[in-house]
Amino acid sequence: MRKMKITALLTAFMLMWAASAMAERADYNVIPLPKSVQSDSTKTFALKTGLGIAYDASDPEIARNAQFLRTWVEELTGIRLALTPDDKRAAIRLTIGLPADKNVKGKKGKKTTAKLSEQQQEAYRIAVSESGIDIAARQPVGLFRAAQTLRKSLPVVSNAADGNDISIEMPYAVIEDEPRFTYRGAMLDCARHYFPVATVKRYLDLMAMHGCNQFHWHLTEDQGWRFEVKALPELAKKGSVREQTVIGHNTGVYDGQRYGGFYSQAECRELVNYAAERYINIIPEIDLPGHMMSALHVFPNLGCTGGPYPVCTSWGVMHEVLCAGNPETITFLKTVLGELCDVFPSKFIHIGGDECPKVRWKNCPKCQAKAQALGLKDDGKHSVENQLQTWINHEMEAFLRERGRDIIGWDEVLEGGLTEGGIVMSWRGIKGGIEAAKQHHRVIMAPTTFCYIDYYQLQNRDRQPQSIGGYVPLSKVYSLEPILPDDLSEEEQQYILGPQVNLWTEYIAYPQHIFYMLLPRLDAISEVQWCRSEQKDFDRFKSRLPHMLKIYDRLGINYCRQYE
Ligand code: ACM
Ligand code: ZN
Repeated sequence: MRKMKITALLTAFMLMWAASAMAERADYNVIPLPKSVQSDSTKTFALKTGLGIAYDASDPEIARNAQFLRTWVEELTGIRLALTPDDKRAAIRLTIGLPADKNVKGKKGKKTTAKLSEQQQEAYRIAVSESGIDIAARQPVGLFRAAQTLRKSLPVVSNAADGNDISIEMPYAVIEDEPRFTYRGAMLDCARHYFPVATVKRYLDLMAMHGCNQFHWHLTEDQGWRFEVKALPELAKKGSVREQTVIGHNTGVYDGQRYGGFYSQAECRELVNYAAERYINIIPEIDLPGHMMSALHVFPNLGCTGGPYPVCTSWGVMHEVLCAGNPETITFLKTVLGELCDVFPSKFIHIGGDECPKVRWKNCPKCQAKAQALGLKDDGKHSVENQLQTWINHEMEAFLRERGRDIIGWDEVLEGGLTEGGIVMSWRGIKGGIEAAKQHHRVIMAPTTFCYIDYYQLQNRDRQPQSIGGYVPLSKVYSLEPILPDDLSEEEQQYILGPQVNLWTEYIAYPQHIFYMLLPRLDAISEVQWCRSEQKDFDRFKSRLPHMLKIYDRLGINYCRQYE
């Protein structure tokens, strides 16, 4: 009898334990942290298999976002929600229109969103109550951001394969959110090393998970040309291939293996669409007039000396650049940029401009004749050759302007006097960004000391794979304040569009290594990009990070397991 009682008690205890183990809880304090989270943890709504998601099925964008939410919930918890567009009683409801806008009327009593900032267009609100989960946004993009927040708030359920038994406790809450900066970027160098389309998609997925909206795609380099130009078929075919690659830090020892790969225009279009579905714009970069050895290899007539030029097999800054005095250079660049515009709808086109030594131009009769014809004179601030580079930038800017595009350039574009309307990407510290903002040029902040995630992330170099050098730990990325209140007036601060991390790949040859370098530093930059400075707190950020790492584990994504 006594034995039976103990057995019954044990069974009851185990059943209770099992039930509590399965009823895991959501936590809305995700990365990046929403602008406002008000929750009542004493009351919860139970999320479980079979509950429906209601949405306007006549809008394919909204329908896609409903599908994303469904997929993400199942991925982490095993719970299978139903897509029930017309069900007014569905537990999860996606709607367009924020409650806060209900009483805001424009002229003639019509509702208006015309005066809203880009950030406000991305705003969303999630309300969890006894009736379920209401997700509201001004635009479909806001529904996507909200779905990402809900996704990250969910526990990673260990027995997710059996979703029928799972119930997630969703504390009652009201979450209101919108980003701080309009531009929230991440760059990937696919020129030093080529990465498959699937890897680029995964990079985009991670960006989207973190609220990033601008993917800067570095497509051309001394070591490889990766963009197909149909009018110049030899360019990608030959320019994408190097004979071998140096081992380590320019050791003089080579691996003896041919290396190559490029993206067809069809693949680029596929990626543009893939990114757009995740509310990311792809900014392609053709780095000019330096970093052009792969193009010079195919078209040696475009160099000052006539070549021959190899596709580079080691790293660094090369003296050989496009000849500024050869009219064929401009024709070549317009052919390339013309096709680039056909493939990439981006409002911004990156024309590089970094690290263009002027030794060849100084000694090239064609370049000097061009400078003279243009009447360029050293004015004490800008050398003749720097102004020659600005002239090329002007030509490119005018060409792109006709196609409705704006140029972005690395901060060297300031050295010859920045072209009107050009956007500066400040990488050699924040100085270039400050100077540009003071001149009322738009700025993207990507200083090496905070944003170069090709640098080591741990102090002890023996504990991590070889990298280019430097030291940018997680805490350093997190500490970036892009607005610079000590240096810029409030008006000047408006020119800072936002921050970006850069991942150069001289020393990164495999996808696993990309994600090791990216994560968790992408988490840190996402809070710099998304959160107001008063929300930022590194210790609290670190306490929210382990949950993100669990999500990466569930998705099978590599990341750096130590951080400092
Ligand atoms: C750069 O890092 N060369 C822009
Ligand atoms: Zn020249």
